[in-house]
Amino acid sequence: MQRVSVGFLEAGMVAARNVHSAEGRLLVTKDTVLSEAMVANIQKTSLGSIYVRNPLFQDIEAEEVVTEDNRRKAVMALKSAVTAYQKTKVLDIQPLKKVLRDLVVEIIRNRDSMIHQLDMRTYQDYIYAHSVNTCVLSVLIAVNLDYPEAKLTDLALGTMLHDIGMMMLPDALLLKMGNLTPEESKLVQQHPEDGFNILRTVREIPITVAHIAYQHHERVDGKGYPRNLFADKILEFAKVVAVADTFDALVSDRPYRKGMVPHEAYEVMMALADSYVDRDILHLFLTHVAIYPVGAVVQLDNGQYGVVTKVLPRLQTRPYVRLLTDRQGTLLNEQTEIDLTQYLTLMITRVLKEKEVFELGKTVGT
Ligand SMILES: [Fe+2]
Repeated sequence: MQRVSVGFLEAGMVAARNVHSAEGRLLVTKDTVLSEAMVANIQKTSLGSIYVRNPLFQDIEAEEVVTEDNRRKAVMALKSAVTAYQKTKVLDIQPLKKVLRDLVVEIIRNRDSMIHQLDMRTYQDYIYAHSVNTCVLSVLIAVNLDYPEAKLTDLALGTMLHDIGMMMLPDALLLKMGNLTPEESKLVQQHPEDGFNILRTVREIPITVAHIAYQHHERVDGKGYPRNLFADKILEFAKVVAVADTFDALVSDRPYRKGMVPHEAYEVMMALADSYVDRDILHLFLTHVAIYPVGAVVQLDNGQYGVVTKVLPRLQTRPYVRLLTDRQGTLLNEQTEIDLTQYLTLMITRVLKEKEVFELGKTVGT
């Protein structure tokens, strides 16, 4: 499958996953051949991109840390808890906890899985989808830090709600495209403390969980906010969340820019060790990020193109690649798969951009 910006969608393409609107309405079911009307419908939503099947490698699909269904349930549960809180000023975390327990069990089961690509979210529900995704990534890190299940559920709860202070801000500010005014920046910078103040008054929420909201923008070098805490004063919970939060923000499509692909985000993250984030937690996290995710089309230094079919933890730079073309770039009739750990002189030189993959796919049958 291939992630395609909605602007590139055309009738005849096949959806590789279900497509939902911001309200959770199912727009297109997985495996549907898109009609003109469906394309127009998707383009009307605030989705940045969706997954489609590339004719060159129809069958390739990455396994995910959590199923799309559980992820979506979590987004909906978070949205309704926060919406109810806005009206009643009562935060009912019970339905959330139920969803989170399922999510945690699923992540424990998939503790060795790699992060290939992310959910497709709309710009409108960005903050909710971002919170759920930050939660999934944080729990994946913590499972690998061998946290017991109860502690994982606490972390999951705090991470889901880490930006609740932000969720209280008006949509106009959250969706603003241009630079913020000094007053607006001040409001945004207040969200960790606002969130903390909301969470610490909820009886069932442990204080360490409320501190996730308070501390998630602190940096290990003491240059974060709101309290300029240094590494030794930042809770491990918050250090874990800071890594997950930053990564998810980098790879997300936003109205003003396209999300980075994993190998770009990987490099940016590497540069943040010891300044923004904790080095050990970061390195642990990065062992689970597929630099060349399943479905990525890469060029090798002998000129051949191939698609990544499998990535093993800690061997991210040497994935399995199914060769698509010969050295001259002509499509092969018979595609063979190679394990790059067995071909150590072959190097991946680049990852093709979305448009190039799209063009390569189009040459099939012509
Ligand atoms: Fe935040």
